[in-house]
Amino acid sequence: MAKISVKTLQEMKIRGIKIAAATAHDASIALLLDKNGIEVILVGDSLGMVVQGHDSTLPVKMEHMIYHTCCVAKTNKNALVIADMPFGSYTSNANAIENAVLLIQSGANMIKLEGGRELQEIVKQLKLLGIPVCIHLGLLPQSINTMGGYYVQGRTEEAAKKISEDAEILVNAGAQLAVLECIPESLASDMSKLLKIPTIGIGSGKFTDGQILVTYDLLGLSNNNYKFCKSYADLIPSEAIKSYVKEVKEISFPSKDHILA
Ligand code: KIV
Repeated sequence: MAKISVKTLQEMKIRGIKIAAATAHDASIALLLDKNGIEVILVGDSLGMVVQGHDSTLPVKMEHMIYHTCCVAKTNKNALVIADMPFGSYTSNANAIENAVLLIQSGANMIKLEGGRELQEIVKQLKLLGIPVCIHLGLLPQSINTMGGYYVQGRTEEAAKKISEDAEILVNAGAQLAVLECIPESLASDMSKLLKIPTIGIGSGKFTDGQILVTYDLLGLSNNNYKFCKSYADLIPSEAIKSYVKEVKEISFPSKDHILA
């Protein structure tokens, strides 16, 4: 497999080839994912929960993201590496640029930001500087205190319209990939048709251009038992990842058992 780039993901969308993505925070998991067909590795700020043991992603700091991105980049060869910008690291154009540069210098190929149209200027600036941006819409774990809990987003017509419009604004600003977390399957499907960039879903049904799961959850190593997730814990790790990749490509994961709304 050749090194995956944003251009490869764009071509996969056009050709209808599903993108298989998963999280990694260390060199061993990155190697496991890369060797078994994962095309996108996310150094997610979920590390605050699955690695650091917090009950949210909010305590994750830039120094943690830099450290874990470096660990992942050491062994990964082919997957595109996305690093999450942690809570509080993109409150202005200036700190967003400074922190995104640090993550790219640590080995990320793209950075991810949670939020809507308020990020328009930041996305534009990063794109101009040659930093590819993945947007994250729907359930925003970094906004847990304003959202009031980990709930499905975009259930009303008004909320769905806002998420969809936010995505279009950010795509026009230069975003090149979108993570859609916990939104209704029909909304994720409409957005995947509407947007010209690839969409990667988690808890958002099977009609996105790809799927992402937290690797600790899919290997059965976490205490989480989310309805949208499938545990492959009965398999040895390399077979578990291969099965997940195969099921994403065949669209047999997510099945109706994993649909939230
Ligand atoms: O931090 C993370 O792992 C994520 C995924 C849940 C998409 O953002």
